[in-house]
Amino acid sequence: MDDMQSVIGSEPGDVTGRVLWHVTMSLDGFIAGPNDAMDWAFGYGGPSPVGQEVMQSTGAILAGRRTHEVGLRGGLKAYGGAWTGPMFVLTHKPPAAWDDPTVTFLTDDIATAVATAHAAAEGRNVVIFGANTAKQCINAGLIDEVVVHLMPVLLGQGTRLYDSPETAPIHLDRTGVAGAGQLTDLRYRVMK
Ligand SMILES: NC(=O)c1ccc[n+]([C@@H]2O[C@H](COP(=O)([O-])OP(=O)(O)OC[C@H]3O[C@@H](n4cnc5c(N)ncnc54)[C@H](OP(=O)(O)O)[C@@H]3O)[C@@H](O)[C@H]2O)c1
Repeated sequence: MDDMQSVIGSEPGDVTGRVLWHVTMSLDGFIAGPNDAMDWAFGYGGPSPVGQEVMQSTGAILAGRRTHEVGLRGGLKAYGGAWTGPMFVLTHKPPAAWDDPTVTFLTDDIATAVATAHAAAEGRNVVIFGANTAKQCINAGLIDEVVVHLMPVLLGQGTRLYDSPETAPIHLDRTGVAGAGQLTDLRYRVMK
């Protein structure tokens, strides 16, 4: 994999205000292990150049409440704390008080939430975190690109990347394949 040529469709620094689903996934299609375990994702090096590029082009993050909570519980920060910017957290029950000014809780429908994040990103990309949240976005046609870091591990159970038996297949156009150490980076444009 190390010599696999990157065919990423956009150049580093190419900032066009897209909506990206950026996710790390086990080979068997899980983005979290049982009980939201994420330890499996950190044993293989990284971040890869693709991950760095995505991070650097991100102007805002839209996450589900569960992703936010798991991060708080495990001391996990977006991009390991290397990224700073506005984060929006979708929830039906926002906390009464919150002292981190970079985090805003939203109770909106998914399209309004993405639009809010888009406006805050000021022309840079919006990254979506969380399986349920990303599913709503992609089912509503709100995601432009899917970027997956494929890990060489089989989890057997956990949170699936995309669990949506009610929807028709969503077709993707592969725009990039790259390898960095044990990671395989896959990049897709969502066909609309
Ligand atoms: N591998 C990776 O790259 C990666 C990245 C991100 C997250 N994760 C993992 O994925 C798991 C979380 O994903 P998930 O699918 O379980 O949950 P999620 O998408 O993070 O959060 C779902 C929650 O978001 C809120 N929500 C979503 N849409 C909403 C809307 N339109 N209006 C109001 N609230 C809304 C609801 O919270 P309320 O119940 O509060 O209403 C819902 O229960 C965690 O284990 C996390 O660690 C992995």
